Amino acid sequence: MAIPLPSTDIPTDIQTMRGLIEARLSEVVPSVTTWPARLHEAQRHALLSPGKRFRPLLCIFIAKGGGIRDTVELDAAISTGCVAEMVHAASLILDDLPCMDDADLRRNQPTTHIAFDESTAILSATALLNRAFGVLSRLDQVSAERRIEMIDLLSYAVGSKGLIAGQMADLANVDKGTTIAEIERLNTLKTGALFDFSVESAAILSGMRASQRAALKDFSYHLGLAFQLFDDVKDVVMSDTQAEKSVNRDVGKATILAIAGSAASKDKLRDYLDSATAALQRAELSNLESLTAILDNQFAFLRT
Ligand code: IPE
Ligand code: IPE
Ligand code: MG
Ligand code: MG
Ligand code: MG
Repeated sequence: MAIPLPSTDIPTDIQTMRGLIEARLSEVVPSVTTWPARLHEAQRHALLSPGKRFRPLLCIFIAKGGGIRDTVELDAAISTGCVAEMVHAASLILDDLPCMDDADLRRNQPTTHIAFDESTAILSATALLNRAFGVLSRLDQVSAERRIEMIDLLSYAVGSKGLIAGQMADLANVDKGTTIAEIERLNTLKTGALFDFSVESAAILSGMRASQRAALKDFSYHLGLAFQLFDDVKDVVMSDTQAEKSVNRDVGKATILAIAGSAASKDKLRDYLDSATAALQRAELSNLESLTAILDNQFAFLRT
């Protein structure tokens, strides 16, 4: 399966939002001069390295499409998107450790345990996770009731029934008669859970109707499956340079690609994305064009 890198042809509103996300990410963690400097340097190394910012973009544009009313509400959506990115960065620091995927390269830079050391990496991931909950709790422009709902959601998404459960299952995963349904469950937990948070928190912030929230749940479920399957394909077909991270880290694991092969995986990817798109349409957001551009940029290779 040939996979060109994502297109750089991104609409201005998305580029602008990326700039605001980067600025907010830089604000939510202490400066490198704050004691203990090495810990904060490591946190900033992991968080501010050049990621795609897919989860914050999703959160912010869904909240926009759901009808947030002014710049104060937009500001809360930016911070909430950054919370998802903080949890994501923490999960990547841990995932790259020698005891997990043993990766040297992440976002074209040395992984945190290589740039620093393992202890600093573990502590910086833990600190990022803690800080993520702190940022949510201090969203003063959001009602206390909504803040608690989002904190509860995040606790579930990243917890032992969400992302961490998925990561546990992933580490135990060796290809021995695993079914596609089992792999889908794993991918839903490992990757989908944080998409659920990004999308559901946007629905909370913009006060969406129950029917819209149900459609968005279906959207993030299928998006998580598509995203991880695409990532597993990259792990096999790309070089470190193309992927901008260490690849061939999941050799020997049961993935949909390993079990079903390249052609069937491409079909499955299209099916997941079709289901995600259909669900997104049912959510009746006002900015389908921007959201479609974000998805197209992520999955551009499917046009080839
Ligand atoms: C990588 O996520 C980890 C997975 C869940 C597959 P991304 O592909 O979003 O990585 P960054 O944030 O752009 O580096
Ligand atoms: C990791 O999946 C997902 C996490 C929750 C960290 P991968 O191990 O496939 O992610 P990459 O390929 O290292 O980014
Ligand atoms: Mg992994
Ligand atoms: Mg990995
Ligand atoms: Mg991977």
